[in-house]
Amino acid sequence: MNTVMLKVDPLNPEQNTINKAAKLIQDGEIVAFPTETVYGLGADAGNDRAVRRIFEAKGRPQDNPIIVHIATFDQLKEVASEIPSKVAEIAYFYWPGPLTLIFKKSDRVSDVTTAGSNTVAVRMPSHPVALALINASHRPIAAPSANLSGRPSPTTAQHVLADLAGRIPMILDGGATVYGIESTVVDVSVEPAVILRPGPITREDLAPLLGEVNMHSKSVDRPVAPGMKYTHYAPKAPLILVESKRNSVVDKIKPLAEMYYSQGKRTGILCTDETFDKYPDAMIKISLGSRFYPYTIAKNLYACLRRMDELEVDMILAEGFTGDGIFETIMNRLRKASSRIVLNS
Ligand code: TXA
Ligand code: MG
Repeated sequence: MNTVMLKVDPLNPEQNTINKAAKLIQDGEIVAFPTETVYGLGADAGNDRAVRRIFEAKGRPQDNPIIVHIATFDQLKEVASEIPSKVAEIAYFYWPGPLTLIFKKSDRVSDVTTAGSNTVAVRMPSHPVALALINASHRPIAAPSANLSGRPSPTTAQHVLADLAGRIPMILDGGATVYGIESTVVDVSVEPAVILRPGPITREDLAPLLGEVNMHSKSVDRPVAPGMKYTHYAPKAPLILVESKRNSVVDKIKPLAEMYYSQGKRTGILCTDETFDKYPDAMIKISLGSRFYPYTIAKNLYACLRRMDELEVDMILAEGFTGDGIFETIMNRLRKASSRIVLNS
């Protein structure tokens, strides 16, 4: 299959380009498109065969449910069979935006989309291209991240092409995504609400509306719940994550890096602007950004993991972060990407 990449203005998407992608969605095909979080691989959420194509293209395990993307609140009524007022309030506050909420599903949503579950995860993205595509398709769009299963999520159209060239018919190229990290997934049907996957909207952001919010234990350490049980976000080389206070992170990574270096291993260090100069220049170093701008670190994370792959490193040593808010989200992804975690206090 030939994969067509079409440039699209991320702020004012050209309608004729959007219509070409929408036609594919209506015909039961799949299309990659930008959202404000990461690129998604979309299909008609009500079409079993179309959604199966997503699973095939990604190599995604059949039992991992897919998020349904909507452009209007009327579409929420189409995909959810019940909309509790408390959940509606949160949706009105945060949508469009990087928050995914769990509802009881309606018959309009394919069982393939929800992997047989009677609940459906829904989000209204804020990216103009995503909204235009959903509107022009006249249907809710099921879309996981547009990467091969297990690989870091794509934050550019080039990342999508690297993973899915020849496996999908079209990519809408709207440039780099804004957050660079997947949406926060929250289950508000339980009391207190549970964050199933931390994301750009943090526990602290949700607290004024939801009060106490729990972090799903499995999203904190090793993943097991729906979609959490698979290797995620992983670069090709093994990644060793070093967790400790800022100063001692360097003290721990440096000797490890020197050891691997002396063994002839190509070792990449994932560091920050504040620590970059503390490692020898002979080593491969990539800064995620400044520790004072953690949203930038989140935005750069997957692109940097992919960059390490391109540099063909044998090992990655990554600095951990402490702190709440978006730091929790960054650490969630780093832990999932890691093959080993080293604690250093
Ligand atoms: O930002 C995002 O959420 C991106 C963009 C494309 O919107 N999408 C994304 O999708 O990250 P995906 O498939 O890579 O991750 C969806 C997550 C998985 O962890 C999945 O298990 C969970 O949402 N999920 C989906 N449906 C669910 C459900 N009914 N109940 C609980 N978790 C669900
Ligand atoms: Mg994904």
